[in-house]
Amino acid sequence: EKKRLQSVDDVELSRHNKRSDCWIHIFGQVYDVTPYLEFHPGGVDELMRAAGRDGTPLFNQYHAWVNYESMLKSCLVGRFSGNLSNLK
Ligand code: HEM
Repeated sequence: EKKRLQSVDDVELSRHNKRSDCWIHIFGQVYDVTPYLEFHPGGVDELMRAAGRDGTPLFNQYHAWVNYESMLKSCLVGRFSGNLSNLK
């Protein structure tokens, strides 16, 4: 069953910045990583640095080679439609 994808802007993304509700933007896509947090090999705290924000620079810095699209397929919320510069 395919989930309906949403369009997510910066205001909406930044609301999901908690351990219990954590969305991250990576390369134009927004993921709800809440269920993935405890499985992240780099730890919860590291992943939470990108909570409700643009995780692309940190992701690239630590492991640009990781296949996040495949790993987070079931976590995809939808495309990012906001302004990245509002997320700093
Ligand atoms: C390690 C996935 C985001 C920091 C890893 C590894 C995976 C992974 C698979 C193990 C890599 C290996 O084989 O060595 C992901 C996914 C992300 C994500 C799917 C997307 C949401 C981030 C972010 C940060 C981060 C945003 C930094 C703020 C780290 C660190 C390690 C790590 C520091 C190294 C842990 C160690 O080897 O001690 N991550 N990561 N990751 N990740 Fe992430």
